[in-house]
Amino acid sequence: MKWRERATRNVQIWDSCAKEYEESIVCGHPEIVRYEAFENDLVDSILFHVIKLRMRKITLIDLGCGSGRFHVRYGAKTTHPDNVPTADRQALCRLQSGRPDLQYDSLLDRHLQAVFGVDFSEAMLRLAAEKLCCESGLGTVLENRLFLDRGLAQEFIPAFPVDYPVVICMINTIGIFQGVEGAIALLRHIRDLVEPHGGIGIISALRQERINPYALCNYESTMNVSGQPKWLEAENGKIYGKGYDIRPERHKLSLFNESYVDACVYDAQGRVVEERLRFHRIPEKVRYVQETGHIHTYSDYYSKWYSREELCEMCDLEWGGAHQWVPAERVDRLRGQMGQIVLLGDPDIARLVCMKGGSAS
Ligand SMILES: C[S@@+](CC[C@H](N)C(=O)[O-])C[C@H]1O[C@@H](n2cnc3c(N)ncnc32)[C@H](O)[C@@H]1O
Repeated sequence: MKWRERATRNVQIWDSCAKEYEESIVCGHPEIVRYEAFENDLVDSILFHVIKLRMRKITLIDLGCGSGRFHVRYGAKTTHPDNVPTADRQALCRLQSGRPDLQYDSLLDRHLQAVFGVDFSEAMLRLAAEKLCCESGLGTVLENRLFLDRGLAQEFIPAFPVDYPVVICMINTIGIFQGVEGAIALLRHIRDLVEPHGGIGIISALRQERINPYALCNYESTMNVSGQPKWLEAENGKIYGKGYDIRPERHKLSLFNESYVDACVYDAQGRVVEERLRFHRIPEKVRYVQETGHIHTYSDYYSKWYSREELCEMCDLEWGGAHQWVPAERVDRLRGQMGQIVLLGDPDIARLVCMKGGSAS
């Protein structure tokens, strides 16, 4: 099946899990939240390197923007509370209070021309718009500096000309972009967006080598989002596919990595089906996931954790030598353990990012 056909089928999966994704992943699992915090700091530092070195107007383009994490972040950093209507000011101040990383930054305000985000899921975009307008007091900035578009990331074209594009695709979004074909189409499209302007593309992906323990614990903790992973079997021998809501009792952390997880199972009407059911790992299925990087669940969710070799091979194919791979833990030893970063284009900026931190693994 071609990646576009897969995308058409995938929309429904993302539409139906948008709210759970926001609650259990973006604001939920501690290790994912920690990795996202690392990505936030990474993008901040890249924007500042670009401002310092290039002195150009930046357009940030977020491919597969989901619930608008980067829109909220850069909306807050480039909007002074005095410049929003009184009705929004309280929400913006509440968002920024106690968050030094979300304070107004005049340098960024001067250089960040626009933030575009594209996602094929209407439900995700609705969440993003709600977060911006209701929770963050940034409604007047939406459609002004912040833009949300519905469409395919592999085909997105910003609505007006850009000077220096920074194109991002974060938290393993490349791994859910409809298989290798969709990922290659993504890399090709980033090249079309970035290369003519001498800009930079940033891919943050999760590493196949870190499936055990990270992916195992993450997916076992968030079955309410993506469903029962195929490496788990329920103690009662039943399979809980689409239509069931499986709520694990707690977040599993990679440090503990138990071979089971306890969860409450609900049916589509919200009635309890199993109050406390234990799911066990099936060793040969765990081995398959580790060896291939393919994550499948019984609710048709699919994600791929690429190995370094696979990711670099795809980048070689689409970008030739113009890319740099770096293990995320080299940039951030504590928070980057499960990830890998690929920097596409502008070699000076890429070098600055790669130089940071300790030694590579
Ligand atoms: C992991 S979530 C995004 C998280 C977001 N990038 C972040 O950093 O917070 C992946 C998103 O990609 C979207 N998506 C998947 N395939 C897509 C495609 N081909 N084009 C556009 N969006 C896509 C999904 O709807 C989902 O919102």
